[in-house]
Amino acid sequence: MGFRILGTGSALPARSVTNDDLSEFLDTSDEWIFPRTGIASRRICTTETLDDLSLEACRRALDASGVTPGQLDLIICSTTSGDHLIPAQACAVAEGLGASCPAFDVSAACAGFVFALDVADGWFARGRAERVLVVAAEKMSRVVDWQDRATCVLFGDGAAAAVLAAGGESPLATSLTTEPAVEILHVPGIAGSSPYDETERAASVLSMEGRRVFKFGVNAIVDSVRTLCEEAHVAIDDIDHFVFHQANERILSSGVARLGIDDAKVARALSETGNISSACIPLALDRLARAGELEAGQLVALVGFGAGLDVGAMLLHWG
Ligand code: UT7
Repeated sequence: MGFRILGTGSALPARSVTNDDLSEFLDTSDEWIFPRTGIASRRICTTETLDDLSLEACRRALDASGVTPGQLDLIICSTTSGDHLIPAQACAVAEGLGASCPAFDVSAACAGFVFALDVADGWFARGRAERVLVVAAEKMSRVVDWQDRATCVLFGDGAAAAVLAAGGESPLATSLTTEPAVEILHVPGIAGSSPYDETERAASVLSMEGRRVFKFGVNAIVDSVRTLCEEAHVAIDDIDHFVFHQANERILSSGVARLGIDDAKVARALSETGNISSACIPLALDRLARAGELEAGQLVALVGFGAGLDVGAMLLHWG
């Protein structure tokens, strides 16, 4: 059966926070952050809710695809930092759009958008849906520890969406893996107020073993691209665009160098957004699409990786 992407959209908060802005309250500097990460600034929510950003991204994706909310058969939202623990962020999107289809969330951290595409692919394969809206929305400023300079400087907020239609040649290959390791990149759940709870209550903020995640990220890019090529019987040089998770410019450039990829084919949206977890990949896709750089028939490789440790990779046939 397969699917094709009809249109994409994205939305970022208005407030841009530069590395110099961070150095006003953290012992850090642009001289430390930019060379190590490629991040110059990030967008951070002030008055915007994640519902606002999700809806804006979805409306833009629907406009770009010529699909109305009433034509949707399913809405999937990838998030780990939603406005609601209950209900799913996707339900808020459905309500805001006035859609009446099933709506639920997928939680696979930075790999979540690709995991959500794979869930949608299953709905198409089973004949359960003709049109699916997949949105990735993250408010990482909610979960980072703003006193931890080793992590809070890396992340940003934003949302991006894609409208998928049944019938098409995507995906040519898919690879989803989990190398279970909870503590390496972790945000504990909310503590709650149960009078019976005797477990340890850690603050619900992000902690990360940066160096281990760095190595894992480079290997995820290299191994996933090779797996996609083997599964789809294509050569790396046949792929027109590489859209990798935007965690760190040095992770991207190490993976690219090891694979011998033409650097001009690698999407980059990191320097002014930071790491927006699962929204990175659809945001980069949306930018490519709106810049007119994605042509029908081109091959696009997506690789998302992060907490879990989850890796989601997919080879798309554009248009
Ligand atoms: O979606 C996946 C998300 N995760 C990632 O992308 C993380 C991948 N990992 C990384 O990008 C890198 O490991 C980091 C950029 C997070 C850190 O770079 P690093 O070269 O591994 O630095 P480090 O953690 O080993 O720290 C080196 C030094 C330390 O100081 P000392 O102990 O040598 O005196 C840190 O305290 O740099 C210090 N440091 C900072 N200094 C200024 C850590 N963060 C900062 C900072 N500003 N923001």
